Amino acid sequence: PLVSVKELLQRAEEGKYAVGAFNVNNMEIVQAIVAAAEAERAPVIMQASQGAIKYAGIEYIYALASLAAGRASVPVALHLDHGTSFEQCMKCIRVGFTSVMIDGSKLPLEENIALTNKVLEVARATGVSVEAELGKIGGTEDDIHVDEKDAFFTDPEEARYFVEKTGVDALAVAIGTAHGQYKGIPQLDFPRLEKIAGLVKIPIVLHGSSGVPDEAVQEAIRLGVRKVNIDTNIREAFTAACRQVLDSNAKEIDPRKVLGPAREAATQVIREKIRVFGSAGKA
Ligand code: G3H
Ligand code: 13P
Ligand code: ZN
Ligand code: NA
Repeated sequence: PLVSVKELLQRAEEGKYAVGAFNVNNMEIVQAIVAAAEAERAPVIMQASQGAIKYAGIEYIYALASLAAGRASVPVALHLDHGTSFEQCMKCIRVGFTSVMIDGSKLPLEENIALTNKVLEVARATGVSVEAELGKIGGTEDDIHVDEKDAFFTDPEEARYFVEKTGVDALAVAIGTAHGQYKGIPQLDFPRLEKIAGLVKIPIVLHGSSGVPDEAVQEAIRLGVRKVNIDTNIREAFTAACRQVLDSNAKEIDPRKVLGPAREAATQVIREKIRVFGSAGKA
């Protein structure tokens, strides 16, 4: 069965490593994540965004993930990535997700707290864990300048206040990462992360982790990050493999000949990430 994210992150805190949270959209990526986790003997989180749910259907996402978890010899959890409404979180809880993210980061602080608490109230009654977000994690198109850091990045004191007012299970922070591909090399604000981790005694989540150098991810883990989100690096590997097959054989019409190598390429990338995060051998 699908396991609780809270439990996986608690163990990660004890062992001072991070659990990989990999985005799923289809069967091949679900299979790649489980294959990688089993090969590395690692606990793993599958996460679906609202876009993934819209694409595959919530029942398909749940069916694929729960089947994978049921057969896996390692712990597998299913999490909603960037849920933006109470209703979306409820749908996921109802269908069987073991964790949800309520992303109220675009809201004013008190509204973010209120929305997070509304989700927490139901989640608590069902044993589902909740991740919230504070600060603005960049999109690819956002170029955050150094003088804008304080306006966008998570304020440590605000993080302490937010956690105190919600009792949320995990907190996503903005410390210089961005979703999608980076133009240059991202510069993480480690002093800020250290301050947040000193004030907030819950697992910290690093979003936008594709394209962040391994050493920087590991430093973030050393400072308290316990869940690392990866989507873009899987997309890159998956699509490059599809492209390679199609480019080298214009007559190929069998989807299995295209998606099989893509699944294999995704598995390799996920295995590498698991090793970087220190979760290999922790299942
Ligand atoms: O945080 C964003 C994830 O990479 C999911 O992206 O909304 O295109 O599915 P998506
Ligand atoms: P990347 O786009 O860097 O893979 O980030 C994924 C993410 O944070 C999903 O929530
Ligand atoms: Zn994210
Ligand atoms: Na990224």
